[in-house]
Amino acid sequence: MIASKEAPPGVDSTRTATIQRRYNRQASTYDLREALMELMFSRWRRRLWGLVPPGSRVLEVGVGTGKNLRWYPPDVSVTAIDFSPKMLARGVRRARQRQIPVELALMDAQAIACAGGSFDVAVATCVFCSVPDPVLGLEEVRRVLRPGGRLLLLEHVRSGLPVLGRCMDWLNPVSLWLNGVNINRNTVSNVERAGFRLLEVDDLFLDIVKLIVAEKIAEG
Ligand SMILES: C[S@@+](CC[C@H](N)C(=O)[O-])C[C@H]1O[C@@H](n2cnc3c(N)ncnc32)[C@H](O)[C@@H]1O
Repeated sequence: MIASKEAPPGVDSTRTATIQRRYNRQASTYDLREALMELMFSRWRRRLWGLVPPGSRVLEVGVGTGKNLRWYPPDVSVTAIDFSPKMLARGVRRARQRQIPVELALMDAQAIACAGGSFDVAVATCVFCSVPDPVLGLEEVRRVLRPGGRLLLLEHVRSGLPVLGRCMDWLNPVSLWLNGVNINRNTVSNVERAGFRLLEVDDLFLDIVKLIVAEKIAEG
């Protein structure tokens, strides 16, 4: 395991520590609690990982308990990070049990301890709803991708349907307090704000669960 780099000035360390604590608190019950949802999510995970080209250097952001491990293509090298020690410990255990070759690291997505351009692809599932500053996190992901590198996300977002969207806004403080999850983020626009070019946005469940494919535009 490798450690996180020093948090840059832009990181709100109090907010970050709060969300970290919420994930540590729920780590032991996370898989059980999500089991029903997983019936739908596992096929979306499979589809997302199917988009990773062979031979890629992959960064998985927010690996958590390791639900994506089984979908890693056999011929890629993966570095997987998470900022919650307790979620990550479960991911480590799962990777060992299944003998999945992956480098797991305790690291904040808002301060990734990797050189710029280290990865061809970055993947995250249900993570940018929780990253305290999602645009900062996405900017970091963009930095560590090579020019032309791909960002592959499976994320739930705020609905654009007026009544549903407003309900999500009302319920958001409860969700955030209970489990550190924002249910009303606009992750598609956050991806653009972080400087990516959107290639594909596919609605998987209503307009709430989305598969997002974006690209780091080559500079100059
Ligand atoms: C809802 S869980 C999803 C876990 C896993 N990706 C999955 O699909 O089951 C969100 C994960 O993102 C991690 N996370 C949230 N913010 C993070 C950050 N700033 N840096 C690294 N990991 C983060 C949490 O610790 C948690 O493990």
